[in-house]
Amino acid sequence: MRVLVVGSGGREHAIAWKLAQSPSLTALHAAPGNPGIAAVAECHPVRAEDPESMLGLARSLEVDLVVVGPEVPLVLGLADALRRFGFLVFGPSAAAARIEGSKAFAKDVMDAAGVPCPARLALARPPCVVKADGLAAGKGVFVCRTQAEVDEALRALRALGGDVVVEELLDGPEVSLFAVCDGSRAVPLVSAQDFKRAYDGDEGPNTGGMGAYAPVPGVGPGDCASLVSAVHEPVLAELARRGSPFVGLLYAGLMLTADGPRVLEFNCRFGDPETQAILPLLDVDLVQLLAAAGRGDLGQVGAPPAHGSAVTVVLAGEHYPAQGDRGSGITGVADAEALGALVFHAGTALHGERLVTNGGRVLAVTGTGPTIGDARSLAYAAAERIEFPGVRYRTDVAAAPAAGLTFSVVAGE
Ligand code: AMP
Ligand code: GLY
Repeated sequence: MRVLVVGSGGREHAIAWKLAQSPSLTALHAAPGNPGIAAVAECHPVRAEDPESMLGLARSLEVDLVVVGPEVPLVLGLADALRRFGFLVFGPSAAAARIEGSKAFAKDVMDAAGVPCPARLALARPPCVVKADGLAAGKGVFVCRTQAEVDEALRALRALGGDVVVEELLDGPEVSLFAVCDGSRAVPLVSAQDFKRAYDGDEGPNTGGMGAYAPVPGVGPGDCASLVSAVHEPVLAELARRGSPFVGLLYAGLMLTADGPRVLEFNCRFGDPETQAILPLLDVDLVQLLAAAGRGDLGQVGAPPAHGSAVTVVLAGEHYPAQGDRGSGITGVADAEALGALVFHAGTALHGERLVTNGGRVLAVTGTGPTIGDARSLAYAAAERIEFPGVRYRTDVAAAPAAGLTFSVVAGE
């Protein structure tokens, strides 16, 4: 199959890297891609947010499958435009992508589907969580324990514009659970945990994600299957009932509270950087899996087995998340790879032959191994080899992986 990957981040590099291993692949293209993706795919300078040009590219390349990485083009209707012209697409329609594009819509869907999520509050009074309703690249959520924090959150969200959602503040470990969906069926991938805060010890502002590991101890294949029945499948049924079936990757951000799992958010695409930890563990032909989902044909497909553990550390620019970094020279990538780590490019560019920074999250370094400890040692040994001015990363990713979480899922709770 001829496949086009849309996007240019670390997630898309991991997706392209995994697709490239598929025996069913005959050609791999990416748009716009990045210097890391260029090692496994032919990159084309078309912006992900320009649906008309992307459609033109897909037609000229005569691709058999388009995999859309980021949320923005999905919310803008890229998958709809491609499907109208007969392309097989892995990624939801704009109507189904609202599950990520609007927190208020997601809550309506969950209420109708009987999926447990934090209660909505009428007033922003501490303790509470204040969120931007629309897309905010992981930066629109404020956990508020004091009135001063509420005031600051409302100020920041006013600056972003758009509606605000207030909900109860919950407590518990978080798990990211991805499921490949074909409109009615959901196939879970291995569980992962994301490190969203900017600094060690979960301090500082929320970011797109500073690191991840998989699998989460205590959240094994059986738990993933129960969670998918309690969370993803009812949401798929409700979206289908509303006439907007979800075809693509449905990502549930879960909190495992003392009262059971609660959905903090849905994303309509692979998570970044969890994808960089999850995909290296999977024993799967990713082209076949995503194409089957696109065709609505996951009936005979089971959850792909995952082997070993992975830890991903994000190397960010000095001022991320406030600001990205551009044009600083990067060294040491080949040394990191020589240790056996995978180095996924997130925000990089080439100035001539020189690899330079080009964004907030610059690289995602993944170590794999039999245990999380082995994977972690490799990821950090590799991360230390890489340098650019101001490089910054969390040193506590997977330092204390959730020790055998215990929780219970009651389907249809
Ligand atoms: P979200 O983008 O909605 O997943 O929120 C980002 C992060 O904010 C989550 O990963 C949690 O750490 C935190 N968060 C969001 N909602 C809540 C909540 N209701 N209670 C506690 N923490 C939350
Ligand atoms: N890692 C969180 C996200 O992709 O939204």
